[in-house]
Amino acid sequence: MSHRPSMTLPFDGIALGCDYNPEQWPRSVWPEDIALMQEAGVGFVTLGVFSWAKLAPTPDTWDFGWFDEIVGLLHEGGIAIDMATATAAPPPWLTAAHPEILTVDAAGHTLWPGSRQSWCPSSPVFRTYALELVRTMAQRYGDHPAVRLWHVSNELGCHNGRCWCDVSAAAFRVWLSDRYGDIEKLNDAWGTAFWSQHYTSFEEVLPPRITPAVPNPTHELDFARFSSDELLDYHRAERDVLRDVSPDVPITTNFMVSSHQSEQDYFAWAPDMDVVSQDHYLDHRLPHIHAEQAFTDDLTRGVAGGEPWLLMESATSAVNWQPVNLAKRPGELLLDSLQHVARGADGVAFFQWRASRAGGEKFHSALVPHAGRDSVKFREVVELGAALKKIGDVAGSRVRADVAVLWDWNAWWACDLGSHPSGELHYIDAVHRWHSAVTDLGATADVVHPESDLSGYKLVVVPTLYLVSDAVAPALQAVADRGGHVLVTYFSGIVDEADHIRLGGYPGAFRELLGVRSEEFAPLAPGAGVTLDDGSHADLWTELLTTTDASVVASYADGPLPGTPAITRNGTAWYVATRLDEQATAALAERIATEAGVTRAGSPGVEVVRRGEYLFVLNRTNADVAVPATGTELLSGTSCNGTVTVVAGAAAVVQEGT
Ligand code: GLA
Repeated sequence: MSHRPSMTLPFDGIALGCDYNPEQWPRSVWPEDIALMQEAGVGFVTLGVFSWAKLAPTPDTWDFGWFDEIVGLLHEGGIAIDMATATAAPPPWLTAAHPEILTVDAAGHTLWPGSRQSWCPSSPVFRTYALELVRTMAQRYGDHPAVRLWHVSNELGCHNGRCWCDVSAAAFRVWLSDRYGDIEKLNDAWGTAFWSQHYTSFEEVLPPRITPAVPNPTHELDFARFSSDELLDYHRAERDVLRDVSPDVPITTNFMVSSHQSEQDYFAWAPDMDVVSQDHYLDHRLPHIHAEQAFTDDLTRGVAGGEPWLLMESATSAVNWQPVNLAKRPGELLLDSLQHVARGADGVAFFQWRASRAGGEKFHSALVPHAGRDSVKFREVVELGAALKKIGDVAGSRVRADVAVLWDWNAWWACDLGSHPSGELHYIDAVHRWHSAVTDLGATADVVHPESDLSGYKLVVVPTLYLVSDAVAPALQAVADRGGHVLVTYFSGIVDEADHIRLGGYPGAFRELLGVRSEEFAPLAPGAGVTLDDGSHADLWTELLTTTDASVVASYADGPLPGTPAITRNGTAWYVATRLDEQATAALAERIATEAGVTRAGSPGVEVVRRGEYLFVLNRTNADVAVPATGTELLSGTSCNGTVTVVAGAAAVVQEGT
């Protein structure tokens, strides 16, 4: 995989930042905003994300006076600007004049204006208006000394990641024609001999709109690829204008690497970024919220090719968009922020500066809450700003990891399509379970693309990698051949990139590596479990597995296939053919990590991550802990010789050897 060139972030140290939406407030509030930003140590703000309607109040007029004023105030206040191109949400005059830019869902329903991101990624009309705004912004602010970073649109694909309209249909046909060249190649890839789906021309192809029965899965998979590429292409269009007019300012767009947003293949996007930036919100719908944060951080670092990245958005406390929006308890803001930094973030920013008075996000937390400056939240923000200043030298250092967890958006899209052996199997859950087992052991994992360089890892974990290219099995074989450990779990290696079964027995691509062969899947009914002969429990999945070269580590004691292997090893290549429960997953992860010689630190609830010469310790338990470390603890400025003591609910950042 190619990655963007290495680059440091354009802000100083580990910057504190936030989205700033001054158009929501009277001018009289702005000077106080700047003063409070200075008090909190805000280093940069993202400006203009949703300003289009105020910057272009009518189709024929611009109004930059108010924006110039706020840019000037920020600059005078010493606050840098991540300047948004302001194209995320078109104003009503544009959607009224050009309703053809609106997105359409798979059932053919138009998604009407009245919220945000009301635009089709393939719309040339939208693009014309948006690029005019980008050029105007770039000409006006491209050499302003406060502007350190360009921020293309906002969370490209948030709400409009896929569109099924006729304009998208035409663009999809062009994309397919570029990919396949010849319609017969598309027919082969999509397996259209099935159900009389043979196409005679690209013109007959539609986006995968709602069908009477199961749609063609490769059609769906290609539409997912197209949709990701289409927004990347849109990013490039804005980027090219910015580069042309404002060549010295780096460019980013904020990614949404997350467990509930699957539509962008960020491995494909990252090489186009000068800075990889990422938005993360704790997801309280999941059982292990901080494990999920660790996972997305490790994946964001993987997307950034191991380089530092920028946390562009997070929340100081609750969001507004989950079923119940849980608030952070005192102390959690610092710990959560440092978790991002420990895992590679060189800046910590939030949505948003001041909590809105009106609109759909008025109950979303902010740096300045509705209660104002005199609040626990603002005092915590000030403490956070001070803490980030103290650890500014961490910026630029790299996280060290012994373990790689393989991840691929293509595999996610394909694995979660319908008509599979079990609708209960979700790729993200499988990856989370193994990533968190590894991190709970105290190991650090990079989450990387399957075709990454795996040469430095002691253990490579391959959870439920349903779709793989031909290159992956030989790369894993090379890891095993040099004595590294490889752990593959159920429903991996099943199909090629066209979603065609790899014949001859499962797990297709990995049969030889693992020394096993499986003839039939036997998934379990929801709620049903199975016991292994080592006493451990599992659910979801079993399969009719035989060993060819592998030895059996554990077999099923009951369930549909008693006596059949459930866990095997072929030297250092392990196969887990079922979904072990969390306890059994942890036990197996521990056994393999120990054999592999994986470096471990920390204990349950105490996260220890090494970034360059810096050791981060996050103590989420109710007890004080002592962790081996020698050097200077930067948050307190004290020395530690042999151990650092971290009180309950607190954090430490030790610069070792000082
Ligand atoms: C996203 C958006 C922000 C805001 C937050 C709320 O990250 O980019 O504009 O809506 O969600 O959590």
